[in-house]
Amino acid sequence: MKVTIVGAGAVGATTADNLIRRNVAEEIVLLDIKEGFAEGKAQDMAQTAALLGFESKIKGVTNDYLSTSGSTVAVITSGIPRKPGMTREELIGTNANIVKSVVENLVKHSPDIIIVIVSNPMDTMTYLALKSSGLPKNRIIGMGGTLDSARFKYQLSEKLNASAADLNAIVIGGHGDTTMIPLIKHSTWNSIPVTDFLTPEEQGEIVHKTMVGGATLTSLIGTSAWYAPGAATAAVVESIVRDQGKLFTASVYLEGEFGQEDINLGVPVIINKKGWDRIVPIQLDEEDKEKFNKSAEAVRTMNNVLKE
Ligand code: NAI
Repeated sequence: MKVTIVGAGAVGATTADNLIRRNVAEEIVLLDIKEGFAEGKAQDMAQTAALLGFESKIKGVTNDYLSTSGSTVAVITSGIPRKPGMTREELIGTNANIVKSVVENLVKHSPDIIIVIVSNPMDTMTYLALKSSGLPKNRIIGMGGTLDSARFKYQLSEKLNASAADLNAIVIGGHGDTTMIPLIKHSTWNSIPVTDFLTPEEQGEIVHKTMVGGATLTSLIGTSAWYAPGAATAAVVESIVRDQGKLFTASVYLEGEFGQEDINLGVPVIINKKGWDRIVPIQLDEEDKEKFNKSAEAVRTMNNVLKE
């Protein structure tokens, strides 16, 4: 099986690194617009095979979509971050053009492809990819909630002094500092609600730290994070390629589910060889329903910029 990753920058390369170490695909194609960049990253990673003992092949290319032919999955991380003086609308415009042309090229060479969108603003870029490609909705997946949920589990594990892997906790809604919804009332440890172990202040602190998780890292590192984003993206790709049927929060097209339609938003879904297979319902209380609707409003405002 072949996996293509568009954008060989921080997140794209880390995704590839996670995938080859676990032999998830026979072949990985890393594609970037910057001359020689993906080739260099791919060679560097390929040279770890003798040390790490994996069989996956990785190839880097500069804008050569023919090399991506026959891919089962593609990940899109290409785009630019917001520069000083740039409005959000200008960023959306630039990244929208990139995502649209990348999707078109991918589909031309791999008509059965499943596409995982990482580029920001992710929910809007996922909606655009779906609308511009005309692909069935199940083959377009936005990765954001998987990362946010991992960060939520990290914050819970720190406070509870428990293993993050033992926690059951998800973040739904938009993939943004103010639009994501860490569902603390639904979170459990050893089947017990985490709220049984935490004061309301501690719960508020965990939710807040989760929501500003990305921004906190950006201010510490000086640029946006890549280890957890790359690991989260690779986990989604692995569930598709290995048909694992794992449960992730992903940005998918809603047609009435969770009270929303004609929008891509993060909800729990099963991911397998079909892409996202089905939405897993959760019973939200009035407070969380209201938060979800507000989140949808914010993402819709962003989507409307595309239509202007
Ligand atoms: P980066 O700047 O390190 O890498 C982006 C790469 O895309 C660059 O190498 C650039 O040359 C390439 N590129 C630009 N236009 C291209 C085109 N038309 N075709 C092919 N390649 C192209 O950025 P980084 O840190 O890897 O982030 C990538 C994107 O992912 C950003 O939009 C970022 O905001 C987003 N992101 C999303 C997350 C999520 O959870 N959804 C988490 C972290 C980052």
